Amino acid sequence: MCGIIGYAGHRPAVPLIVEGLRRLEYRGYDSAGVATIQNKEVELVRAEGKLAALDEKLAQVNVTNSTFGVGHTRWATHGIPVERNAHPHLDFKKNIAMIHNGIIENYQEIKTELIAKGYEFRSDTDSEVLVNLIAEGRKHSETMLDAISWALKQVDGAYAIALVSVDEPGTVYAARVASPMVMGVGVGENFVASDIPAFLPYTREVVFIEDGELVKITSSSWEVFRRDTLEPVEKEVRTINWDVQAAQKGGHKHFMIKEIFEQPKVISDCLAGRIDLEKGEVVLSEIADLEPPERLHIIACGTSYHAGLWGKYLIEKWAEIPVEVEIASEFRYRDPLLSKGGVALAISQSGETADTLAGIKLVKQKGLPIIGLCNVVGSSVARESSHVVYTQAGPEISVASTKAMCSQLTALLLLALYWGKKKGVIDVATYSRAVMDLRNIPSILEAELPAMRDKAQELSREFSEAYSFFFLGRGMYFPLALEGALKLKEISYIHAEGYASGEMKHGPIALIDPKFPTFAMALNDELFSKVKSNLVEVQARGGEIIALTNPGVDLEVEHRWNLPEVWGPLNTFIALPALQLFAYETADYLGKDVDQPRNLAKSVTVE
Ligand code: F6R
Repeated sequence: MCGIIGYAGHRPAVPLIVEGLRRLEYRGYDSAGVATIQNKEVELVRAEGKLAALDEKLAQVNVTNSTFGVGHTRWATHGIPVERNAHPHLDFKKNIAMIHNGIIENYQEIKTELIAKGYEFRSDTDSEVLVNLIAEGRKHSETMLDAISWALKQVDGAYAIALVSVDEPGTVYAARVASPMVMGVGVGENFVASDIPAFLPYTREVVFIEDGELVKITSSSWEVFRRDTLEPVEKEVRTINWDVQAAQKGGHKHFMIKEIFEQPKVISDCLAGRIDLEKGEVVLSEIADLEPPERLHIIACGTSYHAGLWGKYLIEKWAEIPVEVEIASEFRYRDPLLSKGGVALAISQSGETADTLAGIKLVKQKGLPIIGLCNVVGSSVARESSHVVYTQAGPEISVASTKAMCSQLTALLLLALYWGKKKGVIDVATYSRAVMDLRNIPSILEAELPAMRDKAQELSREFSEAYSFFFLGRGMYFPLALEGALKLKEISYIHAEGYASGEMKHGPIALIDPKFPTFAMALNDELFSKVKSNLVEVQARGGEIIALTNPGVDLEVEHRWNLPEVWGPLNTFIALPALQLFAYETADYLGKDVDQPRNLAKSVTVE
């Protein structure tokens, strides 16, 4: 949530920072701003709304060619999304411009103390309090570094900050606690940002900044210090293999559709290096030292939680491990029974979701191993977990998650096979069939996606006036039903409910009417006949049905969507994109802002 970027280099900073913000806009889009320093004065431009509004404002002012600065795209926490609350924020005397992602919990007390000392505030934000506290620190500190350290020691909460000051032209300072930050190391230029895509066109050399570290960059140098002691910290520079295209739309109208179409590659990439072709075996070297758990506790939020629910079916079935799946925001405030022999699995695309991280901390206190299943390399989930399995899906920019879930399902399937084999409980035929057929899914999906999109388009036109939708599924398609409903509601704003189809007659069926259609997962599996009966009950109440099914299946519904049939649980990998495409086409047809749905932001770094 909130995208930040700081730059010190040899290029004009403002256009570079705005471009970087464009690649971070998925993190928040309530307001945006940039600041540089010229002739010992802060130049500040901010605008309410999306980056386009900032572009318009910048076109009207004379921006200088200053080669360092900071920029921010905001998802509002404290203070409504208006210009005065937009970042960067200046201190009272206008010497420091600071951007902040996170929440300062004790800002009110600090604000009261600063007001008593004569400080005045122009915004309602906690961030403005912090920049003034740093300015206060500067009065009695020898260096800016000392002042930042002094101020940060007093704040509670989460932050990733970056700032420039009239005292030190050419230098950007940054720091983090519990909010993401990476540094990009270029030639004659250096960057700090919330996420790698911000600086990907300029460098792929990155340094991951840890909690409690403070960074100083100039065009020709970078240094990292411990926040409290200012001792230097040695850091490793790592090369990221993402390419610039991965963070661009590549001719697609939206990132979401691009990412849906990337799923065949996402499955192959997730499998890369994890199947020993000679032996036909799953290899998960990342967790080779872990015995298969006696119990698995999956914690996650949103789409990642749905992936976890799906994983439970396979891990219990193939590896005979009891699995509990819990929404991280619930898990963290319970006193969960985490006894010896258990292992936690934290699923997170971003690796920065605050509730999931809090869940991990709780598990750590109880001394259990934690496997982080995440996409973003070096993210907090990866760092906090004892073991990491990367999903290797590449950057996911669309706020609505699609390809990340596909990669999570792939990895969960591998986990189920791996533990099933290690425990010797999965039957040989199932194991070999799964390993063999999984490798064919990318080409099948690749061939099917264009026709699936056409079908989704056709259906989206027919159902664009629906005011509400049920998504129904049974067994491992129940989590998919939840995901189908989430996708539709978050981008098209049509209300949708995901239900286990057997639950319909326990209440929800009362809602059925001709404008309340049902999207059913009626694929050819052992539960099909049960799903069919549930659908007949819906039809009997005048409800219209779209059914995802397979050719040859005996089902009479108003709108049949045939998907090619593959082996067993692998049908999920065909059904998931169908749900995503339906949501995408509906939202696009209704003219909604698909990549940046209202009120949302990617990477929920606040509770
Ligand atoms: C929905 C969506 C969210 C995320 C959730 C968890 O499309 O993207 O529900 O899945 O915020 O995010 P991660 O996986 O980054 O922890």
